[in-house]
Amino acid sequence: MRVRDDPLVLGIETSCDETGVALVRGFDLLQDTVASSVEEHARFGGIVPEVASRAHLEAMLPTVQTTLGAAGAALAEVDAVAVTAGPGLIGSLAVGVATAKALALALGKPLYGVNHVIGHALVDQAVHGAFDGPVLALVVSGGHSSLLVIDGPEVTELGQTLDDAAGEAFDKIGRVLGLPYPAGPHIDRLARDGDPAAIRFPRALTRRQDLERHPYDFSFSGLKTAAARWLEAAGDQSREVPLADFAASFAEAVADVLTAKTVAAARAHGLGTVVIGGGFSANSQLRDKAARRFGAAGLSLRVPPVKYCTDNGAMIAAAGAHAIRHGLAPSSLDFGAESAMAPTQLVA
Ligand code: KG4
Ligand code: ZN
Repeated sequence: MRVRDDPLVLGIETSCDETGVALVRGFDLLQDTVASSVEEHARFGGIVPEVASRAHLEAMLPTVQTTLGAAGAALAEVDAVAVTAGPGLIGSLAVGVATAKALALALGKPLYGVNHVIGHALVDQAVHGAFDGPVLALVVSGGHSSLLVIDGPEVTELGQTLDDAAGEAFDKIGRVLGLPYPAGPHIDRLARDGDPAAIRFPRALTRRQDLERHPYDFSFSGLKTAAARWLEAAGDQSREVPLADFAASFAEAVADVLTAKTVAAARAHGLGTVVIGGGFSANSQLRDKAARRFGAAGLSLRVPPVKYCTDNGAMIAAAGAHAIRHGLAPSSLDFGAESAMAPTQLVA
């Protein structure tokens, strides 16, 4: 329910290559603006931190102004400022954190340095309304694959990737295939026309003895190596690579492990709602499999639209609104950007 005097929160995201700014009133999203430097990195095959920091510096204030202008709001009306404190690239984070501190100080309003990974799940509240109880969050991106329980202001981590993140594995295999960076969306498109059962790729940490130690952890580096070897062998034998089948089988292996462990975690912890977020949750094979598997397990699924899965300001504004709603104290002005901020810490 919308309350007229819900706080107006300005959210600022600069953890990687997107400069995102958004305004929410409570969880109502008023405006979300993203300026991306991804094209400047494509020719390097990955993000170049220094290039990203400079792009944030150039885009930061214009993006704040565009957001306020499009929402028809004045800076003076902002009740609180939220900014990504971490995790992320330190130089990129510093641009957002410095901007947010200056704004909060000038306005005399509270500042919330919030967690990017948790924000990927909390953004769903700005699209589909506030959570009505604890949720299990599967956050999958280019840098993270985590299973979190979000219960109001409390966040607990059940598991995470021990090596590569899901998106990272896609990007690396895409590089072997000669696809442009980031390769995730390209592999997704190729996979739509392929047979997911064509090649049986390994599912790491799913055997019984591994499950005992790592019930909710993931590992995608072995899968990535197996897929790269498969391509190498095909090349050695001058076999033509059935790209669609290869992509579909690779995507199936990732989606299979992610969804199986999520269902097991939901059951074990008595949670009925799963939220999926992060850039990799744009993946159609994961979305399809999650819808089917979670539906069969009686779990309700919340997934934001694709534009709110990749990095954006709305996730940070929503995280600020969530912190305020649950009575968390604002950050002190001397908090620093934290490249490895713990996934259980919502506010710095
Ligand atoms: O959340 P995000 O924008 O940035 C990080 O915090 O990492 O996620 C970007 C990641 C990249 O690895 C990209 O390849 C992947 O998400 N990605 C996808 C898709 N869309 C984005 N991976 C697979 N299928 C997609 N449709
Ligand atoms: Zn992200």
